[in-house]
Amino acid sequence: MNRIVKWESPSNIALVKYWGKHNFQLPNNPSISFTLNNSKSITSVELITKQTKKVDFYFDNKLNTNFGLRIEKYLKNISLELPYINDYSFIIKSTNTFPHSTGIASSASAFSALAMCLINLNSEINNSIISIKEASNLARLGSGSACRSVYGGVSIWGETIDIDNSANEYAIPLNNEVNTIFKTFRDDIIIVDADKKSVSSSAGHKLMDTNPYSVEKYNQAFINVKLLYNALKNGNIGEFIRIVELEALSLHSMMMISNPSFILMKPDTLNIINKIREFRNDTSIPVCFTLDAGPNVHILYPDENKIKVQKFISSEMNNYRIINDFVGEGPLKL
Ligand code: PMV
Repeated sequence: MNRIVKWESPSNIALVKYWGKHNFQLPNNPSISFTLNNSKSITSVELITKQTKKVDFYFDNKLNTNFGLRIEKYLKNISLELPYINDYSFIIKSTNTFPHSTGIASSASAFSALAMCLINLNSEINNSIISIKEASNLARLGSGSACRSVYGGVSIWGETIDIDNSANEYAIPLNNEVNTIFKTFRDDIIIVDADKKSVSSSAGHKLMDTNPYSVEKYNQAFINVKLLYNALKNGNIGEFIRIVELEALSLHSMMMISNPSFILMKPDTLNIINKIREFRNDTSIPVCFTLDAGPNVHILYPDENKIKVQKFISSEMNNYRIINDFVGEGPLKL
């Protein structure tokens, strides 16, 4: 009988951003993220007797050769860590809970779900347990930000003297230290534009190598990780908001001063940002925004403010598709 395992794993949203890397997916600065709950990938991996073709990858039950090739390369890369990979061919089926074409980066959920399946199979075959840190390391080799998704709550990835046990090869969870207010934070994602990005994340990371401001940006991220870590511990929402918004705009500033320059925000991204700041000033409700490498706006706020914030969102942003998400528990075996 063929072996098959199935896992679901969520996406995550960075609060301090990873933008710029070296060697093989090693970050140039540490980053901190919230793992989400509803935006996830559900992935099954079936091992079959070795055949000429290494991987058949199905997304939404349709064969997807392009992503299949990316996975094949990934499996080759990690076969030193998981030698059983050399002995089988793979049927991999994946689907996302977030609707198609919503512009949500899915590589974090996709590669963390896949890494969980692969280490699960390894422990079945070799009767040995691989640590969650190793799962994070393997997810990183698929897509950098994926390494933060193997934990629920808050994760940090990237070595910094300010956080014990932090490492460039894998993420670690920060949950024990984090104030409860941040454990139930909400993230309403406003889909401003669902089209494929004009510049991919990999191209964006690469442009940091020649960006004259990159060293300043990395230094700023080290400082912001330290300050955000303290804010998360102390429950200091004002400081949280200041850093998270600064990080989002710094990320996009880097894109605008790369060579060649590029802009991923849309006019509506800025309109929404202004509305959020206005709403916060008028009501003193602690709500803020962040952006991924794209035009969509993540609106972050404590769960206790849900009714008022969602009323504001539905009155001011009712013409957009919205994904209501919140901080979640991390991957789950199905
Ligand atoms: O994991 P990648 O290579 O797709 O890069 C992700 C980069 C950002 O989403 C912009 C920031 C982050 O830390 O997740």
